[in-house]
Amino acid sequence: MIETVKIYAKRFSDRPDEAAKAKKDKYSLVYRQVEALVEGEDDTIANMSNIAALLHTTFGFWWTGFYIVRGDELVLGPFQGPVACSRIPFGRGVCGTSWQRKESIVVPDVEKFPGHIACSSQSRSEIVVPIFRGEEVIAVLDIDSRELNAFDDIDRESLEKIAKKVR
Ligand code: SME
Repeated sequence: MIETVKIYAKRFSDRPDEAAKAKKDKYSLVYRQVEALVEGEDDTIANMSNIAALLHTTFGFWWTGFYIVRGDELVLGPFQGPVACSRIPFGRGVCGTSWQRKESIVVPDVEKFPGHIACSSQSRSEIVVPIFRGEEVIAVLDIDSRELNAFDDIDRESLEKIAKKVR
């Protein structure tokens, strides 16, 4: 019996590939749903709202939402989760830094990111993906998890693909 339990536990701890595949499959499904949602809808706020809801409910993130570029600040857009900061200046926090660098940022531990803006003390890791119109960043997609190290390259690549659907 003990052997069986050990083997069972080992099988689960040795399955990073299966976990990665399961995550990729989930993102593929979400991507198809995003395509269907944005097809025939050209309102950016409506599309951001549905994408935030879809990602949030599918993956059970702590906070999922958009910050929209308004002048030299990001202003809170459609989101799911607890109340968040309304404005983030250019170059500040993870969101403002992603906007400034024009690239996605994966933060395995928010306490180790200099200048991280803590909208919620529960957030432990974070990913921010910029949304472009041409060369310009028009918004960022920000996702927070209560788990450390919740995001990896699968999340980054999949969310960058989804971000291209926001216009
Ligand atoms: N942590 C973000 C602020 C936004 S909240 O996480 C919703 C940042 O450092 O930019």
